[in-house]
Amino acid sequence: GTTLGASAAEKGRYFGAAVAANKLSDSTYVGILNREFNSVTPENEMKIDATEPQQGQFSFANADRIVNHARANGMKVRGHTLAWHSQQPGWMQNMSGTALRQAMLNHVTQVATYYRGKIDSWDVVNEAFADGSTGARRDSNLQRTGNDWIEAAFRAARAADPGAKLCYNDYNTDNWSHAKTQAVYNLVRDFKARGVPIDCVGLQSHFNSGSPYPSNYRTTLSSFAALGVDVQITELDIEGSGTTQANTYRNVVADCLAVPRCTGITVWGIRDTDSWRASGTPLLFDGNGNKKPAYTATLEALNAG
Ligand code: G3I
Repeated sequence: GTTLGASAAEKGRYFGAAVAANKLSDSTYVGILNREFNSVTPENEMKIDATEPQQGQFSFANADRIVNHARANGMKVRGHTLAWHSQQPGWMQNMSGTALRQAMLNHVTQVATYYRGKIDSWDVVNEAFADGSTGARRDSNLQRTGNDWIEAAFRAARAADPGAKLCYNDYNTDNWSHAKTQAVYNLVRDFKARGVPIDCVGLQSHFNSGSPYPSNYRTTLSSFAALGVDVQITELDIEGSGTTQANTYRNVVADCLAVPRCTGITVWGIRDTDSWRASGTPLLFDGNGNKKPAYTATLEALNAG
């Protein structure tokens, strides 16, 4: 193939980008999006503060702009995210206990129902584990409603949209030897053993000097897949530039292609200037929309073999 999306499709995968609704009027941005990508993830527009700004009052206009653009152009949509400790609206931040549990489950149900049939994969729960060496859950108002909040969210999502693949998504879960990776692995293994609905694990894969691409990344992908779930690289970006950055992108793509259940890759933005990292050049296109060496390496890796 001659584009990222077409090349990934030839390998039975998708290649996606995080998209911001307010950039859909930027013709350079949309030109690259439509040419290169066959999946999108709304970068912020499906988060809880965006979709339920007041309790019980839902707001889908910005997310709909992205979903409609995707559907009109034959792109998959990854939904991000139904339950998360961060980017909660003020009303939810101030809740606890049974009321919060019910509000969270209602949010999952309402949003997944609204988009039923339009979402390829949902990040049902995002970033529920702590960093560091303990493998513990992250403390949050959701966690304090009880350890079973994650499975409750997955059951509600399955009931609302039985056709969507349901993912657990996190960062710093790329290195197989890290406690956080093992903790997520144990969660998924437990869910599969007990019949809690889960279809996929999202590895965000934000790589930088503090959390670099690990040499055992392929082991992480294949180990999750061996539990009977798909693996998706959901928020890829790689700090750096030039040949070094390009080679890391090449390795990430090769690792995904080596694992049959690694079903797609999403980069977290299109141009470097679109990145959430205020300084840095972690993406595949420069600020002018020109292809970087990282783009060429990614395309070559998708077409290799
Ligand atoms: O919408 C307001 C806008 O009205 C205001 O003018 C502007 C001023 O700063 O802020 C805008 O909101 C910002 C929003 O991005 C849109 O640009 C928020 O302050 C800012 O916090 C938000 O950051 C997002 C971040 O998640 C929040 O947690 C990033 O765009 C987004 O890329 C980032 O994405 C996360 C994933 O969801 C989860 N994994 C990590 C990843 C990177 O942090």
